[in-house]
Amino acid sequence: MRIRPPISAGAIVAGVLTFMLTFLSVPPALGHVGNALLPEGCGSCHVGHGMKNQPMLDMAEEDFCYQCHGGEDTRTRMKSEGRLTAGIELADIEREFQKTFHHPVKEGSGHSPGERLPSLKTATVGHAECVDCHNPHQRIEAGRPQTYAVTGYSLSGQYLESSIYEYQICLKCHSEYLGADRSVKSLSADFDQSVRSQHPVTRGARGVRLPSLAAGSGRSLTMTCSDCHTSDDREGPRGPHGSDHRFLLSGNYTRDIVTDESPYTYEFCYSCHDRSSILSNESFPLHREHIVGDPISGRSGTSCHTCHASHGSRDNPHLLDFNPKGVERDSRTGLLRYEERGEHGGACYLRCHDHDHGPAEY
Ligand code: HEC
Ligand code: HEC
Ligand code: HEC
Ligand code: HEC
Ligand code: HEC
Ligand code: HEC
Ligand code: HEC
Repeated sequence: MRIRPPISAGAIVAGVLTFMLTFLSVPPALGHVGNALLPEGCGSCHVGHGMKNQPMLDMAEEDFCYQCHGGEDTRTRMKSEGRLTAGIELADIEREFQKTFHHPVKEGSGHSPGERLPSLKTATVGHAECVDCHNPHQRIEAGRPQTYAVTGYSLSGQYLESSIYEYQICLKCHSEYLGADRSVKSLSADFDQSVRSQHPVTRGARGVRLPSLAAGSGRSLTMTCSDCHTSDDREGPRGPHGSDHRFLLSGNYTRDIVTDESPYTYEFCYSCHDRSSILSNESFPLHREHIVGDPISGRSGTSCHTCHASHGSRDNPHLLDFNPKGVERDSRTGLLRYEERGEHGGACYLRCHDHDHGPAEY
């Protein structure tokens, strides 16, 4: 979101800022701060009188960050002004936000300096700025940050001054504790500790053998939200900024009940779960029949989404959670249920593709 152009009353703001910069204790060696790539230190970002309502910043909100994290043009200017080390390459984050699906940094109602995030009034509707997720003063470390100097919420709804896990930042907006339950984007239930199965974001991986993840394919003890919600550009910058795929996913995921299987249809899932393992029925003996369909009987294939939840399943193992758009109660028993029967064994009570499973066992 863009803010009005600078107004000259910036002098007062600048005075206050100078006072703050001079006398308030800003922890040493923080973040962008002290980074050899920023020759002017604080002054690489805080310059002159700045804009109205901005702490000595010459641009507002995302436009300020894009000076270094946007296109090559602005970065060239920053380099020629001696505010950024010449020769350094930084990813173009602005381009990510121009993709079809993106966090509304530009469209949103905006962030005001000095607001205490999360703000009950603004967090739920159309508000997501760079500084809601990033602290420009945070230490930059190689690899993933160990903690995030950004406010968040714990799963149990406790306000956190500084988030330990990435998901806590997300929950400050995508959580029912802030009233977001009025939208479909309330997520703390999906990731509650008590769910029967989940992609391991809020608790560790189960550590059991999963055939489709065999060859160390990105498997780690825990996942972050942004392992899945991130740029669709493999070489692009990490983070849930933008993607050309719906739900801001790293790849295409078709969720229709009737779908033709291809590497692209479930590109997203196949980026971690080996396609040939899934289609050769290494875990569920009827995977192929359901996903690809049956050319002889003329039955079409169906999406992973018909059987699997993406985040967590409250009652079932294996992330099983049937899509009500295509799966109903079995007409004889009246049941809609999955029962586990030992390793790689189970029974389904349901009705799908006009066919009662009451139960169908494997
Ligand atoms: C990468 C750019 C960047 C660098 C480097 C930087 N700052 Fe900031 N600073 C910002 C931004 C952006 C804000 C506004 C944050 C907001 O709106 O929440 C800010 C805000 C501030 C504020 C207002 C209070 C606050 O914390 O929000 C102070 C004081 C401040 N900076 C001091 C410093 C000092 C001192 C240094 C050097 C040690 C420094 N900054 C280096 C970007 C930077
Ligand atoms: C004056 C230039 C400049 C400005 C303005 C600036 N940054 Fe940066 N930023 C950098 C540099 C340089 C790095 C370090 C890159 C590296 O070490 O490879 C960096 C790194 C980062 C990283 C960490 C990347 C990683 O690999 O972990 C994040 C996140 C980030 N910036 C966010 C922001 C945000 C948000 C803003 C606006 C509030 C902002 N930056 C403004 C220059 C800038
Ligand atoms: C400051 C608030 C805020 C924070 C923090 C936040 N989001 Fe969002 N998020 C939004 C808003 C606003 C939208 C746009 C909603 C809309 O367009 O309906 C959104 C949209 C999304 C979408 C797309 C949803 C869809 O229906 O397509 C995903 C995925 C998402 N966010 C993931 C995340 C993740 C992951 C994090 C943490 C790294 C996060 N968000 C942190 C506010 C936030
Ligand atoms: C970024 C990598 C990644 C992506 C993308 C991904 N998964 Fe997973 N998936 C994992 C990991 C890691 C586990 C292991 C969880 C564990 O061991 O607890 C897993 C486990 C599973 C399980 C087994 C859960 C259990 O408790 O037995 C199912 C089912 C599953 N994923 C389905 C999917 C589907 C469907 C998609 C696409 C919508 C998908 N996954 C996308 C990484 C991923
Ligand atoms: C294994 C991959 C994966 C992980 C990890 C993951 N998501 Fe998602 N998320 C998806 C998929 C796939 C969808 C699309 C909707 C669906 O299939 O349920 C989605 C949907 C969403 C939506 C839109 C919800 C809706 O129904 O409109 C939001 C918001 C979101 N995720 C946020 C998050 C947050 C926050 C986290 C971390 C706490 C997270 N996701 C972790 C894969 C993932
Ligand atoms: C909804 C939360 C959210 C918003 C809004 C957001 N980011 Fe990020 N950003 C993230 C997450 C999460 C990561 C990935 C961190 C990781 O991989 O550990 C990230 C990563 C980055 C990186 C490092 C990318 C890399 O691969 O090195 C930069 C730079 C960055 N963000 C800048 C920005 C800028 C600039 C803005 C605003 C224009 C912005 N971000 C807005 C959540 C966000
Ligand atoms: C007809 C329902 C159905 C469909 C459609 C389906 N699955 Fe499954 N899937 C299952 C069942 C049932 C299991 C549990 C098998 C067991 O008992 O171990 C399972 C297990 C899994 C597992 C965990 C074991 C492993 O292979 O690593 C993954 C991952 C998985 N499915 C991914 C997918 C993906 C990806 C798709 C879409 C391309 C998909 N499934 C489509 C029913 C389905």
